[in-house]
Amino acid sequence: MTNVLIRNTRIDDAEQLCSLSREIYPLSPPWSRDQLQSHLSVFPEGQFVAIDSDSGRICGMASSLIVFWDDYDSSASWKDFTAGGYFTNHDPSQGRTLYAAEVMVSPAMQGRGIGKKLYAARTDLIREKGLLRIRAGARLRGYSKYSSGMSPGEYVMRVVLGEIGDPTLSFQLRQGFQAIGVVSQYLRHDPESLGHAAIIEWLNPDVADSKDYERQKEFLSQLKRAFRSPSDSLTAQNSAQS
Ligand SMILES: CC(C)(COP(=O)(O)OP(=O)(O)OC[C@H]1O[C@@H](n2cnc3c(N)ncnc32)[C@H](O)[C@@H]1OP(=O)(O)O)[C@@H](O)C(=O)NCCC(=O)NCCS
Repeated sequence: MTNVLIRNTRIDDAEQLCSLSREIYPLSPPWSRDQLQSHLSVFPEGQFVAIDSDSGRICGMASSLIVFWDDYDSSASWKDFTAGGYFTNHDPSQGRTLYAAEVMVSPAMQGRGIGKKLYAARTDLIREKGLLRIRAGARLRGYSKYSSGMSPGEYVMRVVLGEIGDPTLSFQLRQGFQAIGVVSQYLRHDPESLGHAAIIEWLNPDVADSKDYERQKEFLSQLKRAFRSPSDSLTAQNSAQS
């Protein structure tokens, strides 16, 4: 049984977090000390690390900010939602959405419930703050293997229905998230997703009402209708607008 402690991130974690992101995303620039410093300046409560109690080392992290969703276009990218990874767009005065910008667990420690604990820290945070929801872009890590045979919309539908497992989206769905849209150009240079992501949402049951839950279900209905029709045009659509 892995013994893991979740706590808020501190600036002296920067070196280990840079190494962790290099290990997980070898083809992308790692989180920088400047970016982590900026997260801690604007929203320290939204930044978490997981510590392996045996080694005392960081084995996971989750970072987030609050956004006013209507400020963003339906095709907004990860860079837009995170101000290029600096979170200077954090907007607690207007925003009701916690934007989940990153979650990562050391490859050697994956599959032991650490991602789940990091997400639990986030859901506790939005309940404490009375926010409406968590939203994120789940990059479709398994999509490149299927891209010649199906659109990203159909891929998301099949993952949601459990016909295909995706290393990221399946994990997020297990945490109680629902897919509410598909976007292209989300992480433009990501070779696994080819840039595509599902927009996902978790509603705070203390705050959400029946309309919020109904809107959440609508996207899967759209996907099912599109999948049955020969012209699957859902990649361009996004029902994530509130
Ligand atoms: C996604 C990630 C954070 C998951 O962390 P993790 O610690 O391995 O996940 P957990 O062990 O807590 O798993 C939680 C649940 O998700 C499920 N799950 C995890 N990975 C899964 C996968 N690849 N496929 C299907 N289900 C998965 C687990 O079975 C578990 O289900 P349970 O609640 O029934 O027990 C981790 O794999 C990771 O760091 N990936 C690389 C970085 C990344 O892609 N981040 C997302 C950016 S959008």
